[in-house]
Amino acid sequence: MRVLVRGAGIIGLAVAEELLLRGHRVRVVDPAPCSGASGVAAGMLAPAAEATWAAPGVLDLGLRGLALWPGYAERLGVPLAPAGTVLVARDGRDLVEARRQAALLAEHGIEAVPLDPAALAQVEPRLTSRAAGGVLLPGDRSVDPRAVLAALLERVEVDAGDDAVDAGVDAGVEHDVEVLATGCSLPAPHSHLVRPVRGEVVRLRSDDPPSYVVRGWVFGEPVYLVPRASGEVVVGATVEEHDEPAAPTAGGVRRLLAAATELLPGLDRAAVVEVAARDRPGSPDDLPLVGPTHDPGVVLAAGHFRHGVLLAPLTALLVADLLEGADPDPLTDPRRLLEEPCTTRP
Ligand code: GLY
Repeated sequence: MRVLVRGAGIIGLAVAEELLLRGHRVRVVDPAPCSGASGVAAGMLAPAAEATWAAPGVLDLGLRGLALWPGYAERLGVPLAPAGTVLVARDGRDLVEARRQAALLAEHGIEAVPLDPAALAQVEPRLTSRAAGGVLLPGDRSVDPRAVLAALLERVEVDAGDDAVDAGVDAGVEHDVEVLATGCSLPAPHSHLVRPVRGEVVRLRSDDPPSYVVRGWVFGEPVYLVPRASGEVVVGATVEEHDEPAAPTAGGVRRLLAAATELLPGLDRAAVVEVAARDRPGSPDDLPLVGPTHDPGVVLAAGHFRHGVLLAPLTALLVADLLEGADPDPLTDPRRLLEEPCTTRP
Protein backbone atom coordinates (compact mmCIF):
# COMPACT_ATOMS: atom_id res chain seq x y z
CA MET A 1 0.00 0.00 0.00
CA ARG A 2 0.98 3.63 -0.32
CA VAL A 3 0.76 5.08 3.16
CA LEU A 4 1.10 8.66 4.29
CA VAL A 5 2.08 8.85 7.96
CA ARG A 6 1.52 12.22 9.57
CA GLY A 7 3.71 12.72 12.61
CA ALA A 8 7.31 11.74 13.29
CA GLY A 9 7.26 11.10 17.01
CA ILE A 10 7.89 7.62 18.34
CA ILE A 11 4.44 6.41 17.25
CA GLY A 12 4.56 7.67 13.66
CA LEU A 13 8.14 6.50 13.19
CA ALA A 14 7.46 3.07 14.67
CA VAL A 15 4.41 2.63 12.43
CA ALA A 16 6.37 3.76 9.38
CA GLU A 17 9.29 1.44 10.14
CA GLU A 18 6.99 -1.57 10.52
CA LEU A 19 5.21 -0.76 7.24
CA LEU A 20 8.53 -0.33 5.42
CA LEU A 21 9.72 -3.69 6.76
CA ARG A 22 6.57 -5.26 5.33
CA GLY A 23 7.23 -3.77 1.92
CA HIS A 24 4.72 -0.94 1.84
CA ARG A 25 5.51 2.46 0.32
CA VAL A 26 5.59 4.99 3.11
CA ARG A 27 5.94 8.74 3.27
CA VAL A 28 6.29 10.38 6.70
CA VAL A 29 5.61 14.09 7.03
CA ASP A 30 6.23 16.26 10.05
CA PRO A 31 7.41 19.87 10.06
CA ALA A 32 9.15 19.29 13.43
CA PRO A 33 10.17 15.63 13.80
CA CYS A 34 10.61 14.28 17.35
CA SER A 35 9.59 17.60 18.89
CA GLY A 36 6.64 16.24 20.89
CA ALA A 37 6.28 14.19 24.05
CA SER A 38 8.50 11.28 22.98
CA GLY A 39 11.51 13.62 22.67
CA VAL A 40 11.49 14.32 26.40
CA ALA A 41 9.86 11.13 27.72
CA ALA A 42 11.59 9.22 30.49
CA GLY A 43 11.13 5.87 28.73
CA MET A 44 9.45 3.82 31.44
CA LEU A 45 8.49 0.43 30.03
CA ALA A 46 6.62 -0.03 33.22
CA PRO A 47 3.01 -1.21 33.03
CA ALA A 48 3.23 -2.34 36.67
CA ALA A 49 4.60 0.96 37.98
CA GLU A 50 2.11 2.94 35.92
CA ALA A 51 -0.91 0.80 36.81
CA THR A 52 -2.28 3.29 39.34
CA TRP A 53 -2.14 6.07 36.75
CA ALA A 54 -3.61 4.09 33.87
CA ALA A 55 -7.16 3.47 32.68
CA PRO A 56 -8.47 -0.09 32.98
CA GLY A 57 -7.32 -1.86 29.82
CA VAL A 58 -4.01 -0.01 29.62
CA LEU A 59 -2.40 -2.58 31.91
CA ASP A 60 -3.28 -5.33 29.45
CA LEU A 61 -2.02 -3.28 26.50
CA GLY A 62 1.10 -2.33 28.46
CA LEU A 63 1.96 -5.95 29.25
CA ARG A 64 1.57 -6.80 25.56
CA GLY A 65 3.77 -3.82 24.70
CA LEU A 66 6.41 -4.75 27.25
CA ALA A 67 6.58 -8.30 25.89
CA LEU A 68 7.50 -6.90 22.46
CA TRP A 69 10.25 -4.59 23.72
CA PRO A 70 13.20 -6.99 24.12
CA GLY A 71 12.99 -8.09 20.47
CA TYR A 72 12.21 -4.57 19.29
CA ALA A 73 15.16 -3.03 21.16
CA GLU A 74 17.46 -5.71 19.80
CA ARG A 75 16.30 -5.04 16.25
CA LEU A 76 16.88 -1.30 16.69
CA GLY A 77 20.19 -1.82 18.46
CA VAL A 78 19.24 0.10 21.62
CA PRO A 79 19.84 -1.27 25.12
CA LEU A 80 17.02 -1.99 27.59
CA ALA A 81 17.78 -1.28 31.25
CA PRO A 82 17.70 -4.69 32.98
CA ALA A 83 16.41 -3.66 36.43
CA GLY A 84 12.74 -3.24 37.41
CA THR A 85 10.91 -0.55 39.36
CA VAL A 86 11.04 0.11 43.09
CA LEU A 87 7.91 1.74 44.48
CA VAL A 88 8.91 3.83 47.48
CA ALA A 89 6.72 5.36 50.17
CA ARG A 90 8.12 8.22 52.22
CA ASP A 91 5.57 8.10 55.04
CA GLY A 92 2.77 5.90 56.34
CA ARG A 93 0.10 7.43 54.14
CA ASP A 94 2.32 7.01 51.08
CA LEU A 95 2.74 3.36 52.07
CA VAL A 96 -1.02 2.91 51.81
CA GLU A 97 -0.74 4.01 48.15
CA ALA A 98 2.16 1.64 47.48
CA ARG A 99 0.32 -1.29 49.08
CA ARG A 100 -2.86 -0.45 47.18
CA GLN A 101 -0.88 -0.61 43.95
CA ALA A 102 0.72 -3.94 44.98
CA ALA A 103 -2.75 -5.35 45.69
CA LEU A 104 -4.01 -4.18 42.28
CA LEU A 105 -1.04 -5.87 40.59
CA ALA A 106 -1.54 -9.08 42.59
CA GLU A 107 -5.14 -9.21 41.30
CA HIS A 108 -3.67 -9.30 37.78
CA GLY A 109 -1.03 -11.91 38.67
CA ILE A 110 1.86 -9.44 38.35
CA GLU A 111 4.83 -9.99 40.64
CA ALA A 112 5.05 -7.27 43.33
CA VAL A 113 7.38 -7.97 46.25
CA PRO A 114 6.67 -5.99 49.47
CA LEU A 115 9.80 -4.44 51.00
CA ASP A 116 10.16 -3.28 54.59
CA PRO A 117 12.61 -0.41 55.19
CA ALA A 118 15.53 -2.82 55.75
CA ALA A 119 14.80 -4.77 52.55
CA LEU A 120 14.32 -1.51 50.66
CA ALA A 121 17.76 -0.32 51.77
CA GLN A 122 19.29 -3.57 50.54
CA VAL A 123 17.60 -3.37 47.13
CA GLU A 124 18.37 0.32 46.52
CA PRO A 125 20.90 1.64 49.10
CA ARG A 126 20.82 5.17 47.69
CA LEU A 127 17.24 5.66 48.92
CA THR A 128 16.62 7.71 52.01
CA SER A 129 16.77 5.71 55.24
CA ARG A 130 13.56 7.52 56.25
CA ALA A 131 11.34 5.69 53.73
CA ALA A 132 8.38 3.85 55.26
CA GLY A 133 8.66 0.89 52.88
CA GLY A 134 8.21 -0.09 49.30
CA VAL A 135 7.44 -2.69 46.67
CA LEU A 136 9.74 -4.25 44.07
CA LEU A 137 8.28 -4.73 40.58
CA PRO A 138 10.87 -6.91 38.88
CA GLY A 139 9.11 -7.15 35.51
CA ASP A 140 9.33 -3.47 34.53
CA ARG A 141 12.05 -2.12 32.24
CA SER A 142 13.14 1.23 30.79
CA VAL A 143 14.72 2.51 27.60
CA ASP A 144 16.16 5.82 26.42
CA PRO A 145 13.51 7.20 24.03
CA ARG A 146 16.05 9.50 22.38
CA ALA A 147 18.13 6.47 21.40
CA VAL A 148 14.99 4.83 20.03
CA LEU A 149 14.05 7.92 18.02
CA ALA A 150 17.59 8.15 16.62
CA ALA A 151 17.49 4.48 15.60
CA LEU A 152 14.10 4.91 13.92
CA LEU A 153 15.27 8.03 12.08
CA GLU A 154 18.12 5.98 10.62
CA ARG A 155 15.51 3.65 9.13
CA VAL A 156 12.72 6.07 8.19
CA GLU A 157 13.04 9.16 6.06
CA VAL A 158 10.98 12.12 7.25
CA ASP A 159 9.79 14.93 5.03
CA ALA A 160 10.01 18.06 7.17
CA GLY A 161 9.87 20.46 4.25
CA ASP A 162 7.53 23.38 3.72
CA ASP A 163 4.90 21.19 2.07
CA ALA A 164 4.95 18.68 4.93
CA VAL A 165 1.98 20.23 6.70
CA ASP A 166 -0.24 20.08 3.64
CA ALA A 167 1.07 16.82 2.23
CA GLY A 168 -1.65 14.66 0.82
CA VAL A 169 -4.12 17.51 0.75
CA ASP A 170 -2.74 19.84 -1.87
CA ALA A 171 0.82 18.69 -2.48
CA GLY A 172 -0.37 16.07 -4.93
CA VAL A 173 0.79 13.14 -2.81
CA GLU A 174 -0.85 9.91 -3.85
CA HIS A 175 -1.66 7.49 -1.06
CA ASP A 176 -4.14 4.74 -0.29
CA VAL A 177 -4.38 5.47 3.39
CA GLU A 178 -3.30 8.14 5.81
CA VAL A 179 -2.15 7.31 9.36
CA LEU A 180 -2.57 10.17 11.83
CA ALA A 181 0.12 10.07 14.51
CA THR A 182 0.29 13.75 15.32
CA GLY A 183 0.21 13.51 19.11
CA CYS A 184 -2.08 15.93 20.86
CA SER A 185 -3.02 18.01 17.83
CA LEU A 186 -5.01 15.72 15.58
CA PRO A 187 -6.38 17.40 12.46
CA ALA A 188 -10.12 17.96 11.95
CA PRO A 189 -12.52 16.22 12.15
CA HIS A 190 -10.65 14.23 14.81
CA SER A 191 -9.18 17.08 16.84
CA HIS A 192 -11.71 16.64 19.66
CA LEU A 193 -10.37 13.14 20.35
CA VAL A 194 -7.19 14.28 22.09
CA ARG A 195 -6.51 16.76 24.86
CA PRO A 196 -3.13 18.07 26.01
CA VAL A 197 -1.97 16.95 29.45
CA ARG A 198 1.18 18.80 30.38
CA GLY A 199 4.14 16.93 31.84
CA GLU A 200 7.26 18.65 33.12
CA VAL A 201 10.52 16.70 33.42
CA VAL A 202 13.97 17.50 34.75
CA ARG A 203 17.11 15.75 33.52
CA LEU A 204 19.93 15.41 36.04
CA ARG A 205 23.43 14.04 35.71
CA SER A 206 24.62 12.12 38.74
CA ASP A 207 27.80 10.27 39.63
CA ASP A 208 25.71 7.97 41.84
CA PRO A 209 22.38 7.25 40.11
CA PRO A 210 19.93 4.64 41.42
CA SER A 211 20.08 1.15 39.89
CA TYR A 212 16.31 0.84 39.57
CA VAL A 213 13.58 3.02 38.22
CA VAL A 214 12.15 4.61 41.36
CA ARG A 215 8.49 5.47 41.54
CA GLY A 216 7.70 7.23 44.76
CA TRP A 217 5.18 9.06 46.85
CA VAL A 218 6.62 11.81 49.01
CA PHE A 219 4.05 13.12 51.51
CA GLY A 220 1.41 12.54 48.82
CA GLU A 221 3.46 13.96 45.92
CA PRO A 222 4.06 11.38 43.18
CA VAL A 223 7.43 11.33 41.41
CA TYR A 224 9.48 8.95 39.30
CA LEU A 225 13.18 8.74 38.55
CA VAL A 226 14.52 6.85 35.56
CA PRO A 227 18.30 6.26 35.57
CA ARG A 228 20.46 5.60 32.53
CA ALA A 229 23.82 3.87 32.40
CA SER A 230 25.36 7.24 31.42
CA GLY A 231 24.50 8.78 34.81
CA GLU A 232 21.50 10.67 33.48
CA VAL A 233 18.46 10.56 35.76
CA VAL A 234 15.11 11.70 34.34
CA VAL A 235 12.82 13.07 37.03
CA GLY A 236 9.16 13.27 36.16
CA ALA A 237 6.54 14.29 35.80
CA THR A 238 3.86 16.80 36.55
CA VAL A 239 0.36 16.14 35.23
CA GLU A 240 -1.73 19.16 34.38
CA GLU A 241 -4.70 19.67 32.09
CA HIS A 242 -4.38 23.05 30.39
CA ASP A 243 -4.87 25.08 27.23
CA GLU A 244 -1.66 27.10 27.47
CA PRO A 245 1.48 26.32 25.46
CA ALA A 246 3.55 23.72 27.36
CA ALA A 247 6.29 25.44 29.35
CA PRO A 248 8.11 24.38 32.52
CA THR A 249 7.00 26.23 35.63
CA ALA A 250 8.93 27.15 38.77
CA GLY A 251 6.38 25.34 40.93
CA GLY A 252 6.44 22.17 38.86
CA VAL A 253 10.22 21.95 38.81
CA ARG A 254 10.42 22.76 42.53
CA ARG A 255 7.97 19.98 43.43
CA LEU A 256 9.74 17.42 41.25
CA LEU A 257 13.20 18.22 42.65
CA ALA A 258 11.96 18.39 46.23
CA ALA A 259 10.37 14.94 45.95
CA ALA A 260 13.33 13.45 44.05
CA THR A 261 15.97 14.66 46.53
CA GLU A 262 13.82 13.65 49.50
CA LEU A 263 13.84 10.06 48.20
CA LEU A 264 17.44 10.07 46.94
CA PRO A 265 19.39 12.61 49.01
CA GLY A 266 22.56 12.01 46.95
CA LEU A 267 20.87 13.75 44.01
CA ASP A 268 21.42 17.05 45.82
CA ARG A 269 24.84 17.06 44.15
CA ALA A 270 23.53 16.15 40.69
CA ALA A 271 23.85 18.64 37.83
CA VAL A 272 20.63 19.91 36.24
CA VAL A 273 21.10 19.40 32.51
CA GLU A 274 17.63 20.00 31.10
CA VAL A 275 14.18 21.16 32.09
CA ALA A 276 11.35 20.55 29.64
CA ALA A 277 7.59 20.40 29.32
CA ARG A 278 5.50 18.68 26.67
CA ASP A 279 1.87 17.76 26.25
CA ARG A 280 0.83 14.16 26.51
CA PRO A 281 -1.97 13.23 24.10
CA GLY A 282 -4.87 12.13 26.33
CA SER A 283 -7.98 10.58 24.79
CA PRO A 284 -11.46 11.02 26.32
CA ASP A 285 -11.25 7.62 28.08
CA ASP A 286 -7.43 7.65 28.45
CA LEU A 287 -7.13 4.58 26.21
CA PRO A 288 -5.18 4.79 22.95
CA LEU A 289 -6.88 5.46 19.63
CA VAL A 290 -5.33 2.92 17.29
CA GLY A 291 -7.42 1.74 14.39
CA PRO A 292 -9.97 2.78 11.79
CA THR A 293 -12.17 5.84 11.60
CA HIS A 294 -15.40 6.05 9.64
CA ASP A 295 -13.30 7.40 6.76
CA PRO A 296 -11.80 4.32 5.04
CA GLY A 297 -8.74 6.37 4.05
CA VAL A 298 -7.86 7.51 7.58
CA VAL A 299 -6.41 5.41 10.40
CA LEU A 300 -5.53 6.78 13.84
CA ALA A 301 -2.38 6.01 15.84
CA ALA A 302 -3.01 8.50 18.61
CA GLY A 303 -4.12 9.15 22.17
CA HIS A 304 -1.31 7.23 23.86
CA PHE A 305 -1.38 9.58 26.86
CA ARG A 306 1.32 8.39 29.36
CA HIS A 307 2.20 5.25 27.43
CA GLY A 308 3.55 6.22 24.01
CA VAL A 309 7.01 4.72 24.40
CA LEU A 310 5.73 1.52 25.98
CA LEU A 311 3.05 1.05 23.32
CA ALA A 312 5.02 2.11 20.22
CA PRO A 313 5.96 -1.39 18.96
CA LEU A 314 2.47 -2.74 19.70
CA THR A 315 0.87 0.21 17.89
CA ALA A 316 3.11 -0.40 14.88
CA LEU A 317 1.95 -4.02 14.69
CA LEU A 318 -1.73 -3.12 15.18
CA VAL A 319 -1.66 -0.50 12.43
CA ALA A 320 0.29 -2.66 9.98
CA ASP A 321 -1.97 -5.68 10.65
CA LEU A 322 -5.05 -3.50 10.19
CA LEU A 323 -3.83 -2.21 6.83
CA GLU A 324 -3.24 -5.81 5.79
CA GLY A 325 -6.81 -6.81 6.61
CA ALA A 326 -6.82 -7.73 10.32
CA ASP A 327 -9.62 -6.65 12.63
CA PRO A 328 -8.88 -3.68 14.90
CA ASP A 329 -8.16 -4.33 18.55
CA PRO A 330 -11.45 -3.66 20.39
CA LEU A 331 -9.56 -1.97 23.26
CA THR A 332 -8.07 0.67 21.00
CA ASP A 333 -10.60 0.94 18.15
CA PRO A 334 -11.23 4.72 17.82
CA ARG A 335 -14.77 4.15 16.57
CA ARG A 336 -15.83 3.61 20.20
CA LEU A 337 -15.65 7.42 20.47
CA LEU A 338 -16.78 8.42 17.00
CA GLU A 339 -20.32 9.12 15.90
CA GLU A 340 -21.56 7.13 12.94
CA PRO A 341 -21.49 9.44 9.91
CA CYS A 342 -24.92 10.88 8.97
CA THR A 343 -26.47 9.29 5.93
CA THR A 344 -29.18 11.12 3.99
CA ARG A 345 -31.87 9.29 2.10
CA PRO A 346 -32.07 10.07 -1.62
N1 GLY B 1 4.77 7.74 31.43
C1 GLY B 1 5.02 8.70 32.43
C2 GLY B 1 4.44 10.01 32.18
O1 GLY B 1 3.71 10.22 31.24
O2 GLY B 1 4.71 10.89 32.95
